[in-house]
Amino acid sequence: MASLKLKNIHKRFGSVEVLHDINLEIKEGEFVVLVGPSGCGKSTTLRLIAGLEDITEGEVIINHNVVNLLEPQHRNIAMVFQNYALYPHKNVRENIIFGLKMAKVSRDIMDARLEKVAKMLELQDFLDRKPAQLSGGQRQRVAMGRAIVRDADVFLFDEPLSNLDAKLRHQMRSEIKRIHRAVQTTTLYVTHDQVEAMTMGDRIVVMKEGVIEQQGTPMEIYLKPSNTFVATFIGSPSMNLMDAKLFPEHVEIEGQRIHFKEKIQRPDFLLPKEGLPIKLGIRPDFFLDENFASRGGSLAKINYAKIDLIEPLGFDKELDVQVGTQSLKVRLDLRTTAKEGDTINLCFDMERAHFFDIKTDKNLFIHPPIRPQA
Ligand SMILES: Nc1ncnc2c1ncn2[C@@H]1O[C@H](COP(=O)(O)OP(=O)(O)OP(=O)(O)O)[C@@H](O)[C@H]1O
Ligand SMILES: [Mg+2]
Repeated sequence: MASLKLKNIHKRFGSVEVLHDINLEIKEGEFVVLVGPSGCGKSTTLRLIAGLEDITEGEVIINHNVVNLLEPQHRNIAMVFQNYALYPHKNVRENIIFGLKMAKVSRDIMDARLEKVAKMLELQDFLDRKPAQLSGGQRQRVAMGRAIVRDADVFLFDEPLSNLDAKLRHQMRSEIKRIHRAVQTTTLYVTHDQVEAMTMGDRIVVMKEGVIEQQGTPMEIYLKPSNTFVATFIGSPSMNLMDAKLFPEHVEIEGQRIHFKEKIQRPDFLLPKEGLPIKLGIRPDFFLDENFASRGGSLAKINYAKIDLIEPLGFDKELDVQVGTQSLKVRLDLRTTAKEGDTINLCFDMERAHFFDIKTDKNLFIHPPIRPQA
């Protein structure tokens, strides 16, 4: 096991800088998910750590040692790629032990490790097959096996599930977590799938255009997003961002005044008299139909939301509603009987709402524009 640290990393391809001052620490045994849209620099980050790409500036530190100049094979890192990169002409057994053979590990140790890994991944019955004779999920397990068998200090995963169908992806998600619990190897896992990030990570690192936007536990990221990018990237359907105005005692949306019920919810920074234009962020899941809101009295409320569309999803239904000129996504449970074309009142907990600065996109309660007086 090992700790992994990225210190002030910059990466340029020619004159184009694709990673800007990346700082990240992963503790021994931790499972960290790096998530972000396509092209933001996730694979490049992994490749720098693995030694497959030169570092322009900064340091990669494994177990307190700077490894910038170490060859990939001396970093004791195992990487699992999106396409698995299995050898097509070798069978499963040979694919799994290839790295050990190269490292001239003794036959006894090799056999013992192979047996253990094959059992853990339930590959015992497939050892003589070629990759082409395996399903996508089985190939994925072989790629995992090849990483695990090496007893590496660090695992790097680059979107290992993106070639699988939704059901198998779900299954492998739990599988990888189970394996991690068993082997406890320090892991950096890359995905652009926010569900994978939420469900798998001890910690999530959200990246955009070569910059780390936020890092934290899944719930910190979900409940306290530091800006509109993180707020809308994590969570599905995306957080609603409504045009609103913030006053000391209330928010105004489409002419409706929504009062803060408790002191703690009031902004503690100075606001202009005419109100501060903001984006009011509320997740679709945090709305309740007023008719079924048991804490109705303590909740904030948006009135007269006109239902444009209802999508039944089983237990939940997703609604597209219109409040004045603004469209919202809302997720309500079965009990709501309102129909398309009806108008409903939507309750929400002001504690779960976010106020974003329209200029900086930052969450005003995490980054207040003016510090409160001491
Ligand atoms: N060898 C290279 N030469 C020049 N530019 C590159 C090279 N490799 C990557 N890039 C650029 O660096 C940026 C980051 O690429 P990277 O592959 O790290 O993104 P990613 O986050 O992994 O995206 P995806 O989710 O699509 O895999 C992109 O703009 C890409 O075009
Ligand atoms: Mg990539």
